[in-house]
Amino acid sequence: MLVLGIESSCDETGVALVDVRGAALPVLRADALHSQVEMHQAYGGVVPELASRDHIRRVLPLAESVLAKSGAALEDLDVIAYTRGPGLAGALLVGAGVACALGAALDKPVLGVHHLEGHLLSPFLSSDPPAFPFIALLVSGGHTQLMRVDGVGRYELLGETIDDAAGEAFDKSAKLLGLGYPGGPALSRLAEQGDPKAFKLPRPLMHSGDLDFSFAGLKTAVMTQAKKLGSELEARKADLAASTQAAIVDVLARKSMTALDESGLKRMVVAGGVGANRLLRAELNAACARRGVRVHYPELHLCTDNGAMIAMAAAMRLQADVQTASKVYAFDVKPRWPLGDLSLRA
Ligand code: KG4
Ligand code: ZN
Repeated sequence: MLVLGIESSCDETGVALVDVRGAALPVLRADALHSQVEMHQAYGGVVPELASRDHIRRVLPLAESVLAKSGAALEDLDVIAYTRGPGLAGALLVGAGVACALGAALDKPVLGVHHLEGHLLSPFLSSDPPAFPFIALLVSGGHTQLMRVDGVGRYELLGETIDDAAGEAFDKSAKLLGLGYPGGPALSRLAEQGDPKAFKLPRPLMHSGDLDFSFAGLKTAVMTQAKKLGSELEARKADLAASTQAAIVDVLARKSMTALDESGLKRMVVAGGVGANRLLRAELNAACARRGVRVHYPELHLCTDNGAMIAMAAAMRLQADVQTASKVYAFDVKPRWPLGDLSLRA
């Protein structure tokens, strides 16, 4: 069974083709991605209307390129999957509209996927795929969540951010340091030349005893520190970046270990854009090794948004029989859609 996946929830247009054979783990046949980062850079963040228009321009050429790379024809597709939410409404509508139009034209069923489930299941596309159950740390630009995952569609939320997401903390701090957009990768690159102990920054909720996160205070602390430095900021930027990164990573790692200890599980999955962060990977690897826990990550290029994770999530949901694809082509999107609302049978 060939599943085409379309991602268009934010600033990347992604299309991918996944092959499902029996009960074996679905396999990625081909994928293609266009990042809008350069286009949004001039504005210091994502401009929703520009994002939607660019998705419209890119999605069909990307789909054609995926088909060409995989050697499959349009008629060979069995299911067309798309990101139904959460994300930018206009951007989501492009992927949903194109997927449903393709489905209607080809008389093939369509299926809407939860973007975060895509991130969550993306490590199954790696050369070292996990097995259920596991603790998942989902760290993206809009979400920071710890989950217990017992199977496809069986997600228990253990804790989440009460304000900013980890990615937002990276992005907003980077902006304060004049590092542009998206800030996460830029801040972590600069941090490599700095001293993580140079500035004492808060580790919000680190010892709260629960598994919730809060990063809004950290951003304020970075701003205060930057103001205090004044003209010295330029020379101390790498130190401040390193200290900021260390604060974010410390909290993420500590809470992840608490979740593992409390659950007794010996497996962990890290997904979402911030999962590409090198320091986070190093800290988690070290802490997990001490506990005899195996950590699984998506391939680096599949950490940020992409079509492969959407095709994969659709494929795994179909395979686990928790969702069926349908030939109803009327669609809606869900810009706000808590993962907890994802019923087993959508
Ligand atoms: O998962 P994602 O691509 O999009 C959302 O669904 O939000 O995550 C994007 C986020 C951005 O906040 C970006 O700054 C952050 O992931 N990010 C990183 C790194 N690469 C991406 N943050 C820290 N270090 C990185 N290497
Ligand atoms: Zn994402």
